[in-house]
Amino acid sequence: MDNSKIVTEPIPDKTCVIVGTRPGIIKMSPIIAELNDRDIESFTIHTGQHYSYELDGRMFEDLQLDEPKYRIEGVEETEYHGEQTAAMLGGIEAVLLEERPETVLVCGDANFNLAGALAARKLRLELGHVEAGLRSGDWRMPEEHNRVMIDHISDYLFAPTEQTRENAVEDNVKGEIVVTGNTIVDAVERNMEIARAQSDILERLSLEGSEYAVFTAHREENVDDRAVLSDLIEILDQVTSEEGIPIVYPLHPRTEKRLEQFGLMESIRGISDLHLIDPVGYLDFLQLLVNADVTLTDSGGIQEESCIIGVPCVTLRKNTERPETVEVGANTIAGTDPDAVIRRLEVARGWIGDWENPFGDGDAALRIADTVLDEGR
Ligand code: UD1
Ligand code: UDP
Repeated sequence: MDNSKIVTEPIPDKTCVIVGTRPGIIKMSPIIAELNDRDIESFTIHTGQHYSYELDGRMFEDLQLDEPKYRIEGVEETEYHGEQTAAMLGGIEAVLLEERPETVLVCGDANFNLAGALAARKLRLELGHVEAGLRSGDWRMPEEHNRVMIDHISDYLFAPTEQTRENAVEDNVKGEIVVTGNTIVDAVERNMEIARAQSDILERLSLEGSEYAVFTAHREENVDDRAVLSDLIEILDQVTSEEGIPIVYPLHPRTEKRLEQFGLMESIRGISDLHLIDPVGYLDFLQLLVNADVTLTDSGGIQEESCIIGVPCVTLRKNTERPETVEVGANTIAGTDPDAVIRRLEVARGWIGDWENPFGDGDAALRIADTVLDEGR
């Protein structure tokens, strides 16, 4: 250990934003824009966890973000959680030693955030966790491990809601907790009108004026288990054939890989009225979501967006770290048993979508920047 290499004099106010996955890029985009508007130095590190154009480059284009200053190489080849996290950690540490920011911001629960948080903590830099305090209580989830670990080593915990603030307090975290709202509201507000004006996804799928559902599934506990993945295919089949609702399913690369490995690709491709498509850009996705009748998903971000936009959501999991969506009447936690999901879907389709948005007023990025730069406080 060469302790002389530990950063002792960070550059005041210099802020580093770490991104790495599709939802990380989307949720950090309002913060990157807010920091760019301020008279301070800031830069972005892309950890390389997501790398396919649809999940990465396309997001930068849609959100009108500059190329990140740094991109960590060699992460794509990794296979295991520890190996992937370690590859990102080493790369991030080297950049932080070079740049000496005062503050490092990570967002959410994916592995790249744990890597960024550990790198910052070990270099004794100030660490802010955006989307802090979420808890599913499901210890099978790699994301739950990451949330807990990051919250406990952060100096600032940017809790999106009062409930998440309470979770962090109950966990006896050491850092300062600030309730900011979720930056996903900022992102939806900034991009929804652009999406309505620019996206032609409904025309491309011949869905203009039609009823349809949006479906997504990529969670490890669901798609890495052959039996659960088969149940998801059964759900797609029943919703389209028995309930008569066409479905749009932008397929995540993890799920595509598992469908191939488990020999299930033919069964899913055989379902009529299912638009099984590549992941779409953020603007196309917002346009799909806002015009949908209902969402079926295991995604965290999509549970939030459906709630914000006013589209009923059926969550294909046994629990959620976003209970606020259920409390306001926007979401139902259905699990993955086909009959249970169909029953919940029938109820959810009757909801009108006039619930309150529990995720804030769209100024989360402003509050986060004010806090780390010690302005307006
Ligand atoms: C990760 C996050 C998850 C988040 C999701 C967002 C963790 C533990 N999981 O899951 O919380 O909800 O991102 O989408 O951090 N792949 C590609 N191209 C890519 C990225 C991945 O083909 O750009 C394929 C690879 O085969 C890879 C697999 O997907 O091995 C899984 O990718 P990984 O980043 O490890 O996890 P996600 O399932 O994307
Ligand atoms: N999304 C997108 N294109 C798609 C599917 C999703 O832009 O084809 C966006 C969606 O709007 C949301 C985010 O990706 O903001 C959710 O990411 P994902 O479901 O991969 O991860 P999670 O939120 O579960 O971590």
